[in-house]
Amino acid sequence: MIGKDFLQFSSFQTEEILYLLDEAIQLKKYQKQGKPHPFLSGIVLGMIFEKSSTRTRVSFEVGMLQLGGHAIFLSSKDIQLGRGESISDTAKVLSRYVDCLMIRTFSHQSIEEFAHHSTVPVINGLTDLQHPTQVLADLLTILEHKGKLAGLKLCYVGDGNNNMAHSLMEAAAKVGMDISIASPEGYMPNQEIIENAKEMAKQSGSKLMITNNPQLAMKNADVVVTDVWTSMGQEEEQEKRLEAFQSFQVNKELCQHAKSDFIFLHCLPAHRGEEVTAEIIDGPHSVVFDEAENRLHAQKAILKVLLS
Ligand code: CP
Ligand code: NVA
Repeated sequence: MIGKDFLQFSSFQTEEILYLLDEAIQLKKYQKQGKPHPFLSGIVLGMIFEKSSTRTRVSFEVGMLQLGGHAIFLSSKDIQLGRGESISDTAKVLSRYVDCLMIRTFSHQSIEEFAHHSTVPVINGLTDLQHPTQVLADLLTILEHKGKLAGLKLCYVGDGNNNMAHSLMEAAAKVGMDISIASPEGYMPNQEIIENAKEMAKQSGSKLMITNNPQLAMKNADVVVTDVWTSMGQEEEQEKRLEAFQSFQVNKELCQHAKSDFIFLHCLPAHRGEEVTAEIIDGPHSVVFDEAENRLHAQKAILKVLLS
């Protein structure tokens, strides 16, 4: 995987994803034992952010430091990209300075264009379509709490047409985890990603269900996931979305359809009282802070595998 871009799960083999998870477990052990692990000594990561971030920014920056390298935060407002310099020129120039680029942007096409012109690996730190670094951390969290991935059932309730739903669909299909997505009409996942995920699920022997019925989707779930109803960049639709998603809240009543030992995941930031109740996200089934921590370990694995 050296030199490869990390833009979406569909570009990776199942074995490669499992290898990244093994690396993440190893790196987490080193960090917990206080054992130095400078695999990326002298390596520099450039991080371009066109949207806000707490977890992604800090975990990448700390991760590079722990690996012996360095990260540079580049807000698109402060670099010439924000004043109209082209993606291709920016990618070509930055590739001459840094060893890897992480980008959080709006359109997925922009990151593909960036990767096309970059001569160093590009990591997707979130686009409107995909959030793969988050979902690798989610897989690590599920593996830690459930001891396996293949054969489990993950249920995602909420906005099916967002980055989290899409990356979860691809990742689940790759690792052989059943996935059900419950979303209101008008907020169903991207059709091309559905078709692709179905194909991948066929190969791994897992099932993919897309429905408007949250109770049905939740049946016997081992892992329950949701995300905000209004993603970054959709703020103008907030009122309309609040109404559309009313019956898609993850609450105690809905979770009664899941297995009794289900775990709850949310990439955060969360809106208590909207997509999830405080009772669930702050309750005994929730592993959201393990999940947030695992961003660090999962991303260090990506960086190590792509760059060393
Ligand atoms: N989950 C996630 O990507 O968080 P940030 O937006 O804070 O980076
Ligand atoms: N779907 C959310 C994820 C935030 C980490 C968004 O794009 O805003």
